[in-house]
Amino acid sequence: MTQTLLVTGASGHLGRRVVELLLEAKAGHIIATTRAPEKLADMAKRGVEVRPADFDRPETLAKAFAGADRLLLISTDAVDGTDRRIRQHRNAVNAAEQAGVKHVIYTSLTKPEPGSPILLAPDHHATEQALADSSLSWTLLRNNVYTDMLLMSLPHAVATGQLVAAAGGGGVGYVTREDCARAAAAVLQASTLGRTTLDITGPEVVTYAALAQIASDVTGRPVNYVNVPTAAMVQGMVGAGFPQPVAELLVSFQTATAQGDLALATNTVAELTGTAPQSVRDFLAAHKEALVAVPA
Ligand SMILES: NC(=O)c1ccc[n+]([C@@H]2O[C@H](COP(=O)([O-])OP(=O)(O)OC[C@H]3O[C@@H](n4cnc5c(N)ncnc54)[C@H](OP(=O)(O)O)[C@@H]3O)[C@@H](O)[C@H]2O)c1
Repeated sequence: MTQTLLVTGASGHLGRRVVELLLEAKAGHIIATTRAPEKLADMAKRGVEVRPADFDRPETLAKAFAGADRLLLISTDAVDGTDRRIRQHRNAVNAAEQAGVKHVIYTSLTKPEPGSPILLAPDHHATEQALADSSLSWTLLRNNVYTDMLLMSLPHAVATGQLVAAAGGGGVGYVTREDCARAAAAVLQASTLGRTTLDITGPEVVTYAALAQIASDVTGRPVNYVNVPTAAMVQGMVGAGFPQPVAELLVSFQTATAQGDLALATNTVAELTGTAPQSVRDFLAAHKEALVAVPA
């Protein structure tokens, strides 16, 4: 029986890629929801049913989610230091339950439980709790840090020869956004029900010292890891022009790294998709141009 698969946030990087993978797989009836349906005209032309949905406006969600069998709930980017994102996600969970969705797949975060130093963790934990408190069947995809995020910090490190962070000797199981999309598309197309928590990671844990070495190998320029105290790291980022809350948010991932919370590498991506996830080295080699884009 053909299932109706729904992807929220379908104009974002992850959502757009998941819809593309579903189309390539001829996955049947696909619904893409977004705050900006006009951005998805290309998908509509290819047979995707595009519907408006805004988690800030729960009245839009019953109609948006009607008829979906399996729904990928993509966490929003409403990271503003308030509980707005929790409310958004609760609205989406309630609407999925009301609409009779059979299975919800949520893009969570590695180890989001209370005690995580990551400032975004409480949003993900609250959403996981909302799902646990619902009558829904679900899969939690606890995505580790996107490898793609390294393209924000490494070009500066390559330019200066110093990868500065407050991550101690800790490492991260970086996973590419592409692999997160492939994992999400696989779970959407499956018929599994029940309640499952999956850690979505890359193939290995990479320390900051190893990252510096890989960046150096890929670019041919010397890069060394310089470990600094947390407060100095935040101060340095603010001095470089980051707003204080953004600096604190980014450094909270380094604190989690230092205490080993993100040092998780699983086989889950390969098990779900049949293809191993991409390594940090291979990803960075494929993005060498971005790594050397900042003048030394
Ligand atoms: N693991 C990591 O390292 C990492 C890194 C960055 C982000 N993330 C998380 O993963 C999510 C997807 O990543 P991405 O790279 O695709 O981010 P992105 O391109 O910035 O997309 C943001 C997403 O938020 C959705 N959104 C924002 N406000 C919404 C609202 N009111 N109602 C419904 N949807 C709303 C957008 O949907 P529309 O615009 O289509 O409505 C879009 O899908 C992010 O939103 C964030 O929660 C994880």
